[in-house]
Amino acid sequence: MKKKIIFLLILTMLAFSSCNHSKQQSEPLSFEADSALTYCHQQVLRALETLCDSTGNRDFTMMPRNILADEQIWNCRKAKAEEWCSGFWSGILWMTYEYSKDESVREAAEGYTEAIVSIINSPVYDHDLGFITFNSFLKGYEATGNDCYKQLALQAADSLATLYNNKVGTILSWPRHVKDYGGHNTIMDNMMNLELLFWASQENDELRIKNDELFDIAVRHAETTMKNHFRPDGSCYHVAVYDTLDGHFIKGVTHQGYSDSSMWSRGQSWAIYGYTMVYRFTKDKRFLDFAQKVTDIYLKRLRETSDDRVPIWDMDDPRGTEAPKDASAACVVASALLELCQFVENEKGNTYREAAISMLRDLSTDRYQSRDNNVAFLMHSTGHHPAGSEIDASIIYADYYYLEALLRLLRLQ
Ligand code: GLY
Repeated sequence: MKKKIIFLLILTMLAFSSCNHSKQQSEPLSFEADSALTYCHQQVLRALETLCDSTGNRDFTMMPRNILADEQIWNCRKAKAEEWCSGFWSGILWMTYEYSKDESVREAAEGYTEAIVSIINSPVYDHDLGFITFNSFLKGYEATGNDCYKQLALQAADSLATLYNNKVGTILSWPRHVKDYGGHNTIMDNMMNLELLFWASQENDELRIKNDELFDIAVRHAETTMKNHFRPDGSCYHVAVYDTLDGHFIKGVTHQGYSDSSMWSRGQSWAIYGYTMVYRFTKDKRFLDFAQKVTDIYLKRLRETSDDRVPIWDMDDPRGTEAPKDASAACVVASALLELCQFVENEKGNTYREAAISMLRDLSTDRYQSRDNNVAFLMHSTGHHPAGSEIDASIIYADYYYLEALLRLLRLQ
């Protein structure tokens, strides 16, 4: 009798715990995008105040770039073609305006965007023209419908396409480094710049380089990169080097990663974002499958190497969890996964959505949000570790993709 009672008791306990478990499993993971967005708006206002001189004047040509550990305000760099981060600050202002409708932010956004026009009117310097103009003019165009911004972005797309090498099938990233690398170099970051070409190909048929050509260049770049720029497991090299004349793939190496064979976290994040975006424009299933492949290896290695959802700067740094983090990579991936999850059905799509939300949750804790420490949104990004630059810092592009991810989540909600 006693045995029977104990047996029944255990059965009841098991039933109760499995009930609880399935309840936990079925509850969708949630995160309040609104309060994080309000925080970002407040930090933007604080930053704007510090970007004025004592007489209240603002130099719109000086763009926030980083805040190093123990500093409180942005170090700025002059907007120019050689400064790849020139467009992120105006993009942040446009997104903040879109969310808050704060006219003071819009005014600032217009001023900083204006300062970028001279870059478009100079000869193309390198592939970063895409980052600079997509993030400023197109965000401005999305927020206001101002046709001037659209025309400037179309002009930039046209210039960017002149870096395309038809023998290789990719855009040349760094014309200045062709000799150093022994050939035509293309970096993974360049996948992001295809968005400008795809967008332009759909907008205007008066371009010097015809729209179909822009579309074809972007597709061919994505295909060539898919073929050569990745290892069998889906992790990527930072730089792919090709023979300039006959176009054959020579080697994959690193520039900002730990080693030629390591997984540099931000490089992989560009791949995840890039192939998701290429699928958005092409609806070609090869790119959707590939976006999942490069995501799955990232998420697997993230689980193995990080104590939370923010990666260390390079997943192969032997210091493991002691290595500096790169919040910027987490922001890029979170934003990308909030798009990818809409293209992938069922459980897998849900896994991507939940992964993105977990990333945003971690990023929005006091471990990463700058709060009173400085005027950026986030701390703990790593720019160029091998060069010893911007290690464990606030960096402008982390804030940009954090804000973009929050807005994407808000739209999903
Ligand atoms: N595009 C340069 C970087 O990701 O740091």
